Amino acid sequence: MYEFTPIGFLKSCYPDKFGVPRQSGIVSSAYSELIISPEWQPEQALEGLSGYSHVWIVFVFHLNKSARYHAKVHPPRMNGESIGVFATRSPHRPNPIGLSLVEIVKIEKNKIIFAGADLVDGTPVLDIKPYLPQFENQPQAKGGWSVESESKNISVEFSEIADVELKNWISRTGRQELREVIVETLKQDPRPVIYKGYESTESPYRNKHAFRLYDGDIHFEFLSADHARVIEIKLKPSS
Ligand SMILES: C[S@@+](CC[C@H](N)C(=O)[O-])C[C@H]1O[C@@H](n2cnc3c(N)ncnc32)[C@H](O)[C@@H]1O
Repeated sequence: MYEFTPIGFLKSCYPDKFGVPRQSGIVSSAYSELIISPEWQPEQALEGLSGYSHVWIVFVFHLNKSARYHAKVHPPRMNGESIGVFATRSPHRPNPIGLSLVEIVKIEKNKIIFAGADLVDGTPVLDIKPYLPQFENQPQAKGGWSVESESKNISVEFSEIADVELKNWISRTGRQELREVIVETLKQDPRPVIYKGYESTESPYRNKHAFRLYDGDIHFEFLSADHARVIEIKLKPSS
């Protein structure tokens, strides 16, 4: 057995799992921040990191409650098919440890701002390590089954009311990137597999969904398999 102590907890724009990108780099406009705990002497430990543009984040899938091990898993994009867990980046694995490649936006004393993380708010971070392009960039690398299941190009529109709500939200928070985060998040079609292919209004399935971004609920629907519409944006009353 080994014991690890997190170096910090990631503050992400995604408070819930639903909507979180399925891989790092997909929603490049999503910012997150990591404050390194004082016991690791961050100001010294981060020295030299500003020379790098990207880091690997090693973290714990802390929201995975199921302890049962399955050697084969069902990745959402395999439409019901199963595959060996070690051929996937599934959160459900022998040790619930994840690995994400993110861009460094800024380093301020004990705090690092990242772009492109695929993590839920509060994720415990075990370590960060610089990405070494001279060794790790492998243009000839094969992408396995995940390349074959790349999703189609999805367009995203905002209803009139959602557009007004978004503009107010941006002007109140100063977060210029909000529109892009919403669009990039919907472009990866975050809906559970069972809802896909049932976009018509006669569908027996619920076709309106919402994901949470900071303190806002983004209500959306898919009008067809490759066209999403933001219906409205509901902010928490206190915000
Ligand atoms: C497929 S995993 C890939 C994560 C990482 N890039 C990797 O390859 O290890 C990404 C998904 O993990 C889930 N997730 C993110 N943070 C999590 C956490 N702290 N606990 C459990 N699940 C999490 C979200 O549903 C997200 O879409």
